[in-house]
Amino acid sequence: MKKVQKLIIPVAGLGTRFLPVTKALPKEMLPILDKPIVQYIVEEAVASGIKDIILVTGQNKRAIEDHFDYQPELEQWLKKTKKQKRLKQIRDIAKLANFIYIRQKGPYGNGTPILNAKHLISDEPFAVAWGDDVFVSKKPRIKQLIEAFDKYQSPILTGVKTDVAGTTKYGMIEGEEVEKGIVEVSRIKEKPGPKNTKSRIGSIGGYILTPDIFPELVKTPLRDNELWLTDAIARLMKKRKVFAKQVDAEYYDLGSKFGLLKANINFGLRDKEIRSPLKSFLKKNC
Ligand code: G1P
Repeated sequence: MKKVQKLIIPVAGLGTRFLPVTKALPKEMLPILDKPIVQYIVEEAVASGIKDIILVTGQNKRAIEDHFDYQPELEQWLKKTKKQKRLKQIRDIAKLANFIYIRQKGPYGNGTPILNAKHLISDEPFAVAWGDDVFVSKKPRIKQLIEAFDKYQSPILTGVKTDVAGTTKYGMIEGEEVEKGIVEVSRIKEKPGPKNTKSRIGSIGGYILTPDIFPELVKTPLRDNELWLTDAIARLMKKRKVFAKQVDAEYYDLGSKFGLLKANINFGLRDKEIRSPLKSFLKKNC
């Protein structure tokens, strides 16, 4: 099989949980410290060997395209004011990867953006990462998934340990561990709730998929008028093996205000400049 070189990031979601800030600003552009969430995901992918980033966008998402583009006016100003470090920093963002933008069209649900990118994927495995899940690890999470794919030559889900509450928030994975950290998946169910699964391993954040997911997505019936990737993966599992890699990484769920705040506090506590004033602030206020 070919190498994984493409990543699809669905970014068309409305971000209603963050209104009003997401009225005009894409939720993927919300910051952890001074960097938008989507840039963390792109940088992680690039560090994993990904060359092409396919962003599946919607209305009001133009800021994402602008962010990964050159910005001549700003660059000229930074040059003129001799802010070389800043200049390099913002130019480098545009050079991170090949950026490809397509519009999401079709039913609601997270299967649709994947299906929309079908014409950009040939006979090759590809990665998918949601735009609101950030992972911090020594070895990038997507690289860990790619290594598992290279070994098993099968679709790979991201396994993350979760708790009872997680069973209502995440796709849940059941299966047998075939080697340390790799589960052969026997069942995947979208947000089953604690009564319908004993598993506490969530399928969170991203996947390595193979092109045979596309015909399954086409055939997957809508649930509540939405097309779910998890349902298509469950169908694919009847035809081939699917594995989950329990990634060695710290996971940040940025789909909620509290998740975003936690990420900002933790990243702040690791930031040279902010660490000390943040610690005193927290001490004083807790
Ligand atoms: C999606 C997936 C789900 C996964 C979750 C977190 O759900 O459908 O399987 O566990 O992302 O990565 P959503 O949060 O979009 O409802």
